[in-house]
Amino acid sequence: MKILVTGGAGYIGSITSAELVRAGHEVIVIDNLYQGHRAAVPAEAVFIEADLADRRTLSNIFAAYPGIDGIMHFASYTLVGESMEKPFLYLRDNVANAANLLEAAIAAGVRRFILSSTANLFDQPERIPIAENERIVPGSPYGESKFFIERMLHWMARIYGMRYACLRYFNACGDTPNRGEDHDPETHLIPIVLQVALGQRPYVTIFGDDYPTRDGTCVRDYIHVLDLASAHILAMEALDRLGERRYNLGNGQGFTVREVIETARKVTGHPIPAVVGPRRPGDPAVLVASSETIRAELGWQPRFTDLESIIASAWEWHRTHPNGYDD
Ligand code: UFG
Repeated sequence: MKILVTGGAGYIGSITSAELVRAGHEVIVIDNLYQGHRAAVPAEAVFIEADLADRRTLSNIFAAYPGIDGIMHFASYTLVGESMEKPFLYLRDNVANAANLLEAAIAAGVRRFILSSTANLFDQPERIPIAENERIVPGSPYGESKFFIERMLHWMARIYGMRYACLRYFNACGDTPNRGEDHDPETHLIPIVLQVALGQRPYVTIFGDDYPTRDGTCVRDYIHVLDLASAHILAMEALDRLGERRYNLGNGQGFTVREVIETARKVTGHPIPAVVGPRRPGDPAVLVASSETIRAELGWQPRFTDLESIIASAWEWHRTHPNGYDD
């Protein structure tokens, strides 16, 4: 298939683009390089530096590349904490950019769409693991922006026959030998812990150890980015029979912040000093996905189910790319 990947120079988008190429698909990447890296885009893909805010450029891209079979939309502002400080980047830009993309796609006759959605839709889960029928309570303007886009897709399906899947990622992590997580600033736990192992930070701060969990620190469901990539490809290939779908994507296993740090100590052989700080506002105690629906409907299976192999894959990238893509 010919797939347009927005945010294909970013962490999850570039690794999915590489997997699409490997599976024999044709890839066209659009990215404004705000967080993305040109070097992350696979050499086999077409790369277009463009911003989704620019509607004219979007129409020109669809005109210049006719016959796009589907879109994977990764490009987005993605930080829960930032969204509490700069809500309009999320409530306006994330939403408007998705609307621009959808409008241009529909005008060009594209009817397949995969959305990067988020576990931040489930701020107050009543049942763990969290299934697709859990009550939606976005935890931040970030989560709300993704919920708006999910709703927009519902109307695109109803009005224009769009076939789509919303993939609600839990904690994306892990790297591949050639592509990895390189955000500036970095806010995610695993890369921060590995930066401590590399001597780039003196210690990691644990955001609260008074949660009602087995060791008092937050529990998260860490899912390897290659397992996310395979879910995207399976969903895209199955959209014609699926129609409208929402899938929660995680490993189904939760690990505490202390368990992540302890595993990283084992993998890296570094002591990784940790200090306990206050809670980070907006962090729910436990987020673990039930991915039964995508397993049953698409036969999706995560390949990285243990924390050690996930962290080992991330360590390999960080150790060999201590300055990320700037090396
Ligand atoms: N944490 C620390 N210290 C740090 C960084 C993180 O203790 O320096 C803790 C957090 O409090 C949290 C856990 O480690 O309990 C994981 O935090 P991350 O920042 O790595 O990830 P989040 O769970 O906050 O967020 C991720 C994605 C979001 C998505 C969210 C859905 O980054 O895009 O999962 O739950 F919305």
